Amino acid sequence: MSNIGSYGERLNDFDWSLSEQELDYNKGDVINIGWYCTDRNCEQGLAEKTAFIWENAAGDERTYTFDDMRVLTNTIASYLKELGLEPGDRICLFLDRVPELYLSFLGILKMGGIAQPLFSAFGDESLHQRLGPAGTSAIFTQRKHVAKIRKIRDSLPDLKHIIVVDGDPEKLREREVIFDLDSTPRVEEFDVHPSTAETPSVLHYTSGTTGQPKGALHVHYSLISQYLSARWVLDLQPDDIYWCNADPGWVTGTSYGIIGPWANGITQAVLDSGFQTERWYKFIEKHRITVWYSAPTAIRLLMREGLDTVSKFDLSSLRHLCSVGEPLNAEAVHWSMEAYGLAFHDTYWQTETGSMVITNYPGMPIKAGSMGKPFPGIEATILDPDTFEPLNETGSVGVIGLKPGWPSMFRTYWNNQEVYDSKFINGWYVCGDRASIDADGYYWFQGRDDDTINTGGHLVGPFEIESALLEHDSVAESAAIGKPDEVNMEVVKAFVALKPGFEAGPDLELEIMNFVRKRLSPLAMPQEIEFVDSLPKTRSGKIMRRLLRAQEWGEPIGDISSLEND
Ligand code: WT7
Repeated sequence: MSNIGSYGERLNDFDWSLSEQELDYNKGDVINIGWYCTDRNCEQGLAEKTAFIWENAAGDERTYTFDDMRVLTNTIASYLKELGLEPGDRICLFLDRVPELYLSFLGILKMGGIAQPLFSAFGDESLHQRLGPAGTSAIFTQRKHVAKIRKIRDSLPDLKHIIVVDGDPEKLREREVIFDLDSTPRVEEFDVHPSTAETPSVLHYTSGTTGQPKGALHVHYSLISQYLSARWVLDLQPDDIYWCNADPGWVTGTSYGIIGPWANGITQAVLDSGFQTERWYKFIEKHRITVWYSAPTAIRLLMREGLDTVSKFDLSSLRHLCSVGEPLNAEAVHWSMEAYGLAFHDTYWQTETGSMVITNYPGMPIKAGSMGKPFPGIEATILDPDTFEPLNETGSVGVIGLKPGWPSMFRTYWNNQEVYDSKFINGWYVCGDRASIDADGYYWFQGRDDDTINTGGHLVGPFEIESALLEHDSVAESAAIGKPDEVNMEVVKAFVALKPGFEAGPDLELEIMNFVRKRLSPLAMPQEIEFVDSLPKTRSGKIMRRLLRAQEWGEPIGDISSLEND
């Protein structure tokens, strides 16, 4: 029997107080996510239960009980306090998926800090754009990533502590300290910060269509949504061994790779290694993974390897599969039925929503290719893209609107209330995606309603890429768009007009690609650069990415009456 039972019945009289009661939370109480994920499980009799199984590419393995988690997160929280860090300080996690990433995330929350996770493959410029505006006070990192921080720290006056978890005492520079968790004396008791519902918890940077990335700020009360959706959608049950293959640099890796599952007292397994089909299957087989939360790009890569590879492993432990981040095509759902005897359940949400908002539930019939239906307590609709009034018409495509007020909704964009406010129109939070609803109430994703590029489930902002391109000596003008890709759905393509004296060609193309990769990240690196004489612009001088994109996708070009050079 699934946790949700009947979706239809759960909709009747749904109230978030149901989740509050399960967590013994009453309005006005202290609510600290770090405590809920560790101490509370110990109080519930799970102290000796395995909480965390960790393995890296080399096959090194570690396991932690909930009591280990409690003590280690205490140890980190108290270390941060001793460093002089205070509640409300932004503390960044710039780590591979090492145990310290997970433990420090919870340790930061326990001392009242705001955890700011960033993808460890980010280059110095991507890092700078997220640490500077956030006024980040401290950053956890590894020896292998410290050079990128050294490059930018002189222009980050707020960054007081660079905490290297595997540091070499001989090689420390200014502001750097070593924190070796294994040798730090354990702290049994720690006064957890008495955060309440609206106390900030996590700051997740996300890219949009214009400007630099924005920091979506979440609060401790988000737990109410994350706990219940992990229970009802991921269907986590006491004996499960759960694997979320997302990196906590993105919201999936925190909401459902840390908070939701551990607040449910579930055993989580983490693989600190990139994608490799056989390695992944071996991991599932070895740890007897039962519930797996993955993403369409990974599923398409697994599909490419075919059923023969699947049959080499015993994957019979799997009982429930979910997916997030990009449209899950019907073909992938059918293939997973064939390969694993289970359908991937698509889930739709965003950094800003903090938890799943439209999803497929265990027991509810899946329509392959559909994102499913709104989570109980989430009021969703399709809005007319011009008037932002609900369309209320079966099959009409418009933009997804959500009625504000669910617990895990972001509370602001860090220092950017203006852009935050602009996301709310006519009382709806406007997601920036287009979709339609069918006669049975299922949602069908159509595409983004802006220029943001979704590559392998990761949003990349065209503006960030264009800014990086312009820093290259040869580039006079640039535009970045997503171009279709069989595996990643989209990859970045850049259009570049060169300054006089530079010659277009494969050498320069490669040089510019690497330039962007190093500054931003491998994800933001253009996979193709098209050299052009000039870029199409509106009369007011804005580059018309829409036109370039339509050409690339072979779509109708639409209204170009504002084109400057027509
Ligand atoms: C954007 C949000 C939420 C975790 C990962 C992404 C796209 C997300 C789906 C889905 C089609 C999806 C949307 C959304 N997206 N899930 N199931 N089907 N598209 O978080 O980085 O904030 O990206 O990802 O465009 O707005 P994010």
